Amino acid sequence: MHHTSILAKPLTLKNGVTIKNRFFKAALSETLAKKDDGPSRLLVNLYRTWARGGAGLLITGNVMIDRRAKGEPGNVVVEDERDLVLLEEWAKAGTENGTHLWMQLNHPGKQSPKMLSQDPVAPSPIPLSGDIKGFFNPPRALTAEEIEDLILRFGNSARIAKKAGFTGVQIHAAHGYLINQFLSPHHNGRSDEWGGSLENRMRFLVRVYTEIRKQVGEQFPIGIKLNSSDFQRGGFTEEESMQVVKKISELGIDLIEISGGNYEQPKMLVAEARESTKKREAYFLEFAEKVRKITSSPLVVTGGFRSLDGMTKALTDSGIDMVGIGKPFALVPDLPNQASQGKFTSITTNPIKTGVKSIDKSASLLELGWYEQQLLRIGKGNKPKPNYNVWKSLFRILLTQGTAAFKKRRS
Ligand SMILES: Cc1cc2nc3c(=O)[nH]c(=O)nc-3n(C[C@H](O)[C@H](O)[C@H](O)COP(=O)(O)O)c2cc1C
Repeated sequence: MHHTSILAKPLTLKNGVTIKNRFFKAALSETLAKKDDGPSRLLVNLYRTWARGGAGLLITGNVMIDRRAKGEPGNVVVEDERDLVLLEEWAKAGTENGTHLWMQLNHPGKQSPKMLSQDPVAPSPIPLSGDIKGFFNPPRALTAEEIEDLILRFGNSARIAKKAGFTGVQIHAAHGYLINQFLSPHHNGRSDEWGGSLENRMRFLVRVYTEIRKQVGEQFPIGIKLNSSDFQRGGFTEEESMQVVKKISELGIDLIEISGGNYEQPKMLVAEARESTKKREAYFLEFAEKVRKITSSPLVVTGGFRSLDGMTKALTDSGIDMVGIGKPFALVPDLPNQASQGKFTSITTNPIKTGVKSIDKSASLLELGWYEQQLLRIGKGNKPKPNYNVWKSLFRILLTQGTAAFKKRRS
């Protein structure tokens, strides 16, 4: 990559904060918290490696705002200042080399598996459906008081992130988690001020954003990860997503990352077969082009980028501002440095499969488990292992999470 390449250009946000280049490491849940939910040394090492690898902006894997509601075993929880010193170490490592490090804040809502949540909460008591439903207890509806408490928690976690030295936060409003559940007419059947019209369904997100802004101030970057759509009948649609983009842009969001899907429809992890998508790599680029027309907020698209060519084209032709990259960063942690030295042109990420049909139908679990093993390797100071045996990673998943892990979980 020549130094004048568009990928090497700094990006200045509306608040004057500058990100040194256009490489955006998307959130990859590390599941590397200590037993007490605090950040571990492995996390610190992992983020130091990524920061030294040249990315402009690193988004952490999802950090939980409430200890009672985790998306997976091994999630970091930030609900008070007990782990401030460790958080400071994490922030220091991840901001080496002029790198931005933003903490992704999340509440899983009903997407908190049985082994972690007896009594998961959601906007409405609507269970998850499809193959995965057996892995989650049916949720109960949040009370109005609980909703107010969660809003404050998002703000408080953001305040602690700032205090620890993280340079921004990202609200996880995508992938079927709690904020997405509020947005979705399928998952939100409330008849109070939190449900019904789109204005009501987006109230939780708007209040979360406003509370975070109140607690971190005007100059601190707040981003959002939003679904283009849920790809479900009766779910959150592209038209609604555009309305949400308009609203949060007006409110002053600093960066919008576009993704899509949820546990029931894990589109964020799986490339679409459509020819147009294959050619352009990124799954949600067409939608991002529509969004570009209605907002001046900086835009990131995540999902599918594998080549320098595809990334460059997205920036030049589609008007997005940064390229969101997930899995490749688990295999090539210094991808941006390699790109600037002309050593990276593209990477192939093959679907992770055992060849045994009954196991391979849990494709997302295999993928996530396999990539989490790569993150663990980097945290331990080892190199990623692209030929890592899928059976070994499966064995480790079973060891740490038991058979209950066999579900289409996250991302
Ligand atoms: C192991 C793993 C963990 C993930 N964890 C998160 C997460 O915590 N938060 C999030 O927003 N997305 C998460 N994702 C989704 C990625 O951010 C990204 O949207 C997805 O992998 C598609 O991008 P890619 O094709 O570049 O990998 C995860 C993906 C993987 C593979």
